[in-house]
Amino acid sequence: MRFFLASGNPNKAREFQALARALPVQIAPASELGGMPPVEESAGSFEGNARLKARALLPVLPQGCWALADDSGLCVDALGGLPGVDSAYYAGHPTDGAANLAKLVSDMRGVETPLRRAHFRCVLVALGPAGQERVFDGRCDGRLLEKPRGTSGFGYDPLFVPDGFDLSFAELGDDVKNGLSHRSRAWAKFTAWALSTFSPARP
Ligand code: IMP
Repeated sequence: MRFFLASGNPNKAREFQALARALPVQIAPASELGGMPPVEESAGSFEGNARLKARALLPVLPQGCWALADDSGLCVDALGGLPGVDSAYYAGHPTDGAANLAKLVSDMRGVETPLRRAHFRCVLVALGPAGQERVFDGRCDGRLLEKPRGTSGFGYDPLFVPDGFDLSFAELGDDVKNGLSHRSRAWAKFTAWALSTFSPARP
């Protein structure tokens, strides 16, 4: 089965293509459909925003194919769930990972360790040719450091320590992070569904 990824980010398309290598599905980039149409991510939830992105591809989707979209971010308990769906634009537009991280460090200054709980979320929405919808939700819980540590990863990784570890995502590195991240957990659910839904029937 062929899925088109509702994202204008070529790195994301490549990452998803690599993840899907062992699956009975192919993930093609929106660039093959003339590019990702502009979408205002205004739903106020990860699932709603992912749905808006997936729906934006429907008018240009070849017959019989699925649209797939993801939305993710960091939710901080002490900030009432912020930056949440605004994670990419926490410090304003255009998106700037270093400025977002600096703002989070500043906003969390003075917050005691027990109150520094946070989690990453990733929601994938798949829309099928007969109007089917499947939602896959991944979450990774942890706490925020006071100062960024580590150099790998991106975004808020240097500030986030996943439960069960003493190192930040940016210190743990991609291999460890990919084993427990919100994205890998959402993707694992997608994988289980794709295998059970699209594997060729055995004789
Ligand atoms: P997107 O929905 O995958 O584009 O992610 C939106 C924003 O959430 C990113 O720009 C980052 O600020 C933040 N984010 C999402 N996933 C991660 C992660 O794994 N590490 C650090 N930041 C993340």
